[in-house]
Amino acid sequence: MYNMTKRYGQCALITGASSGIGKTFARALAKEGMNIILVARREDVLNTLASQLQEEFQVETQVIAVDLIKSGASKVIMDSIQWPVDLLVNNAGYGSYGEFQTLDVNIEENMVDLNCRQVVSLTHALLPNMIKNKRGGIICLASVVSHVPSPYMATYSASKAFNRFFALSLAGEVKHHNVDVLALCPGDTVSEFRQEAHFDKKMPIPQRTSEDVVNTALSSLGKKYSVTDGIFNKLMGVFGKLYPEKRLVRFNAKTWRPRKARA
Ligand SMILES: NC(=O)c1ccc[n+]([C@@H]2O[C@H](COP(=O)([O-])OP(=O)(O)OC[C@H]3O[C@@H](n4cnc5c(N)ncnc54)[C@H](OP(=O)(O)O)[C@@H]3O)[C@@H](O)[C@H]2O)c1
Repeated sequence: MYNMTKRYGQCALITGASSGIGKTFARALAKEGMNIILVARREDVLNTLASQLQEEFQVETQVIAVDLIKSGASKVIMDSIQWPVDLLVNNAGYGSYGEFQTLDVNIEENMVDLNCRQVVSLTHALLPNMIKNKRGGIICLASVVSHVPSPYMATYSASKAFNRFFALSLAGEVKHHNVDVLALCPGDTVSEFRQEAHFDKKMPIPQRTSEDVVNTALSSLGKKYSVTDGIFNKLMGVFGKLYPEKRLVRFNAKTWRPRKARA
């Protein structure tokens, strides 16, 4: 147990709660006794999860089915929420993989909207209540690729660097209000992410589970400003900091090069 209700309060809002890491956050926080607001697009999936959480953990749940890429999504959420939010998990996000000029520009632009703009918007809307209550928690999903330039994932890796720096900078601003902010950096983790991103590369590092990632997050929130999940991913982050930039970019371009681009 992480004493989440004692430290932060009664209600957690999780974006991207219908699968992968977000779904696991929902289960872990419900197990802690928090009421859960589940946000994503697939309403049927969220409703099923909401019923399971109510039954298994005797908590209250609310489903808000919304496309977070659309402008005004935060207003829809703010107009719908039944309880003040004490813990926000900015988790919804996706990636893409391939030669930048061949990728669909709408998918790249929407990625920036979902991974970055929406995080700013929802955090800005929910933070004042945490400051007023003199306690709160915010977890932003960054990635191990926020530490290393990642050719063939240019927009995604930049969006995750945004998430990490946004969380780190905000953490410094709101610590004295007793609001904890954490940049969470997972590496390759079992979820629907790979399929969504059309990412078919086999990684030399063992895949982590979403349970590993969520445990890392909940044991670090309030103790650290940023955390990378898993020892091999940590080493990758250190490698990214120590290796000369020019070589690192070339090395990663070679490593990540899609099979199709080799011809
Ligand atoms: N898995 C990894 O290897 C990995 C590594 C590092 C970082 N991450 C980060 O972890 C976070 C969660 O990813 P995951 O691995 O759990 O992937 P996932 O299984 O694909 O889950 C993504 C979640 O985001 C939601 N989502 C996507 N587009 C949305 C939209 N337009 N509006 C509302 N919700 C939307 C999806 O729900 P709906 O489809 O129902 O809308 C889903 O619940 C992401 O920010 C990702 O960048 C993942």
